[in-house]
Amino acid sequence: MNTRRLRSVAEAAEILRHGGLVAFPTETVYGLGADGLDPAAVRAVFAAKGRPADNPLILHVHDVVGAETVAVLDARARRLASGHWPGPLSLVLPARPQVPEEVRAGLPTVAVRCPRHPLALALIAAAGRPLAAPSANLSGRPSPTSAEAVLEDLDGRIDAVLDGGPCPLGLESTVVDCTGPTLRLLRLGALAAEDLGLEPRVGGGQALSPGMRHRHYAPRIPLRVVDDLGLALAEHPEAAVLCTAEQAARAHLAPGPAVYVLSADPVKRGAELYAALRLLERCGRPLILAAAVPDQGTDAAVMDRLRRAASGSQGGAGQGVDADRA
Ligand code: TXA
Ligand code: MG
Repeated sequence: MNTRRLRSVAEAAEILRHGGLVAFPTETVYGLGADGLDPAAVRAVFAAKGRPADNPLILHVHDVVGAETVAVLDARARRLASGHWPGPLSLVLPARPQVPEEVRAGLPTVAVRCPRHPLALALIAAAGRPLAAPSANLSGRPSPTSAEAVLEDLDGRIDAVLDGGPCPLGLESTVVDCTGPTLRLLRLGALAAEDLGLEPRVGGGQALSPGMRHRHYAPRIPLRVVDDLGLALAEHPEAAVLCTAEQAARAHLAPGPAVYVLSADPVKRGAELYAALRLLERCGRPLILAAAVPDQGTDAAVMDRLRRAASGSQGGAGQGVDADRA
């Protein structure tokens, strides 16, 4: 299959209406879109990514009315939707019967979100149906935040990528379970947990969000998260480094091709994270040292992704966290 790079929403929508796969930009990361009501198209998404079948997909809708066609929203869910949509918040809700089992991975619930990106919204409208879309990476890899990153993983495996340039937020949506008596955070993401009145910690019980069981976000070389960059560098002078300018200065680290300096602004560094991992894995060094940031706001999601990247790589500390891949 020849993967086309498109600028036209109409062409992309036409492919989706015929059961094809099109990656498209959202404000968080690129999604790998398919007709969310077509079981065969949804199965093709799992195949293209190499994604385990037990990890359900998010349905992307144009608005709350679109959400109501696939899920049941109570007053609390409607309040969350009207407060944060379009935006980086996915709500896990009771699914309506027309949602294919493949999307839900057999669960009675479905995750729904309305993305805050003009091309994503135009594409959903033009396709005229909800789009099932996981992040458009090969399972286990860092999510793509540009059309180039999508093609790095999926060229030849999908029909097209709608190129909308880099994603402004660069971290996946925050996932919240709205089916119980209290809201539960299932995945830290681009919307800070604190903005939902929640602790920035994934809450209660095991494997609430099936995807969080799986290995994730791992670059092709080992990654370690370190508290003291200077000390870690003394031990591993050969390592590539991911850190802020302040952390680099404290470690007396000079800028260079194997040093990625993240922005001081937490939202900006969230947006840079995955592109940085994809860049550093290609810089010829055997290891990435990532300097830890405090677990708050969007940095909590940055730390979550770094820890998972570390536990999925041979150099990581968290062996045994995740045996399989998402
Ligand atoms: O920002 C995002 O959310 C991006 C863009 C493309 O919208 N999408 C994304 O999708 O990150 P994906 O498939 O990579 O991650 C979806 C997460 C997984 O952790 C999955 O397990 C969880 O949402 N999820 C989906 N449906 C669920 C459900 N019914 N119950 C619990 N968790 C669910
Ligand atoms: Mg993903």
